[in-house]
Amino acid sequence: MSEVRIGFVGAGGNARGHMSRLAELEDATIVAISDLVEEKAKEAAGEYGATPYTDYHAMLDSEELDALYVSVPPFAHTDAEVLAAQAGLNLFVEKPVVLDMDKGLENLEAIKQAGVLSCVGYQLRLMDTTQRLKAYLADKTVAMISSHRWGGLPGTPWWRVMEQSGGQLVEQTTHQVDLMRYVTGDEIVEVYAKYATRTLGDLENFTIPDSQAVIFEFASGILATLSTSPMMTQGGGKSDVVFLLRDQIIGWSTTGLSVTPGGDPDLEAEPKETPNIDQVFVKAILTGDQSLIPVSYEDGLRTCDATLAANESAATGKPVKPKLS
Ligand SMILES: NC(=O)c1ccc[n+]([C@@H]2O[C@H](COP(=O)([O-])OP(=O)(O)OC[C@H]3O[C@@H](n4cnc5c(N)ncnc54)[C@H](O)[C@@H]3O)[C@@H](O)[C@H]2O)c1
Repeated sequence: MSEVRIGFVGAGGNARGHMSRLAELEDATIVAISDLVEEKAKEAAGEYGATPYTDYHAMLDSEELDALYVSVPPFAHTDAEVLAAQAGLNLFVEKPVVLDMDKGLENLEAIKQAGVLSCVGYQLRLMDTTQRLKAYLADKTVAMISSHRWGGLPGTPWWRVMEQSGGQLVEQTTHQVDLMRYVTGDEIVEVYAKYATRTLGDLENFTIPDSQAVIFEFASGILATLSTSPMMTQGGGKSDVVFLLRDQIIGWSTTGLSVTPGGDPDLEAEPKETPNIDQVFVKAILTGDQSLIPVSYEDGLRTCDATLAANESAATGKPVKPKLS
């Protein structure tokens, strides 16, 4: 294969980012774009010389594709993944991959049966700082991880509706949970969570908690705490993941690593540019090499599983073991 022919399910804000990165690749062509909102499908398709659809079933029936991007709101993952896998299409699925683990396991089974490549949009794994931290931690004992994501409220209307997004942890702070799993190479085996609505309860259609406190226990014994809130409605905020080792505190953020006390010139060096996740996905398809992709559907589903376990824990008041643990 010398060219990857790509279709999209969803032409919203995130999908447009993937499209613009793919358009820069000589060996990728966006051939079809579907969105429930006709104008969105037509506008994006017009920009990339693709065919617009409002129903991805019709798109899958009519188009010759090598890969499908599924970039829809969390509640909207229904049959696209299974149909695409059965048709032999390689799959890029945006996080969170599902809101329901039974659906996730069904998708995973279809992907495994079909033997197609899969990728989930946890692009933080590809960052130079993430790679550096993962290599550094490989022979160290991590005692605890402390993580925060205190930010704003995205404008998409489904985001603030619990049944549609799963809440901030499942929808957004999943990136931090994924980062913890990835750099430690460890699996989450138990989750305990408490949620509250403290400051945003007066907003219209707001049914997610605005305060989420979670404890994750990993198989090795690492304890991780996570605090997340979208309370900064006027912008601003703070986001980090901090790793506690013997005599050392290592902070990860999107801007770089920090080491206390004393610093570490190698870890704290200016991050190098790394390939983006769309480049990596296309290259993996062209070479047939899943190992180039930093996060398969199964791996992404495991992160999702841990966050859905937190929702269950908050609802039941009991610690919950992720289904795949
Ligand atoms: N990896 C990342 O860093 C990252 C960043 C932003 C968003 N995302 C993820 O991308 C996904 C989409 O987010 P967004 O911000 O683009 O949302 P959005 O609301 O802007 O776009 C979603 C689009 O999907 C369309 N859609 C819904 N159901 C559909 C269906 N059955 N068929 C075709 N189209 C359908 C909607 O009409 C909408 O245009 C979410 O899961 C989100 O978490 C990931």
